[in-house]
Amino acid sequence: MDVLEAISTRRSIRDFLPEAPSREKIMALIDAATQAPSAVNRQPWSFLVVRDRVLLDKISDAAKAFMTNTRPLELPEQLYEKLADPNFHVFYHAPALIVVAAEAKGPWIAEDCALAAENLMIAAHACGLGTCWIGLSQPFLSTREGKQMIGLPETETPFAPIVVGYPRVSAPDSPRKPPRLRWIG
Ligand SMILES: Cc1cc2nc3c(=O)[nH]c(=O)nc-3n(C[C@H](O)[C@H](O)[C@H](O)COP(=O)(O)O)c2cc1C
Repeated sequence: MDVLEAISTRRSIRDFLPEAPSREKIMALIDAATQAPSAVNRQPWSFLVVRDRVLLDKISDAAKAFMTNTRPLELPEQLYEKLADPNFHVFYHAPALIVVAAEAKGPWIAEDCALAAENLMIAAHACGLGTCWIGLSQPFLSTREGKQMIGLPETETPFAPIVVGYPRVSAPDSPRKPPRLRWIG
């Protein structure tokens, strides 16, 4: 698969086979992530991998409770209803979570981490893996308790929590809007 095909066929996956990707596969994705550009070439990112399903279940429960109790983000009401559903798993029972984190000091750190995250997601797709960025877990993972649960140092911010696994089914199409374009010259 060439890079343009990988970019245009990547879609978020929310239904995974139970088998976790091997350490080698995950390391290949992290290597791809680290090839991203970064402001002043700071390469501020760190990567945290969780393949412990029991822990992922616990984080899902804690993240849902935190979101419904504190409502930290302005979200459509149906998303809060989903978060209150006992059958909803924020990580879609994925076998692995990779958190792109960084010490949030200085400008462009979030952008740097998002670029690394996108590289990781494209590389995963090209390797036959599926990913989904789980923003709904970010508010909880940013708390002291959330950081403690995954062993993230207090000084770091989880910028991109991404679930990874083998897709059970191919993703439904998610058509794109035509670009809003302003062009000079
Ligand atoms: C910052 C960010 C946060 C996201 N958070 C979630 C999330 O919490 N749960 C989820 O199912 N998808 C999440 N997504 C995935 C988007 O819903 C998805 O990218 C979008 O619908 C476009 O679909 P596609 O990725 O299949 O192209 C997130 C994506 C981004 C970039």
